[in-house]
Amino acid sequence: MEEKDILICTCNEIYKSTIVKAIREKGLKTVEEVGEETTAGTVCGQCQDDIQDILNELNL
Ligand code: FES
Repeated sequence: MEEKDILICTCNEIYKSTIVKAIREKGLKTVEEVGEETTAGTVCGQCQDDIQDILNELNL
């Protein structure tokens, strides 16, 4: 079953699906790389922990 999409970065309106896609397609390893690729986490920084969680989930 497909997981419901979650808004991760409210500053830039970046959803989890966008971040997951970028991580998978580009092989991203860090919060900084995700920021460069998607702009998520580049404004207030509050969502960076959530981005790290997604990275951990995908790059186990
Ligand atoms: S919520 Fe992601 S940078 Fe502010």
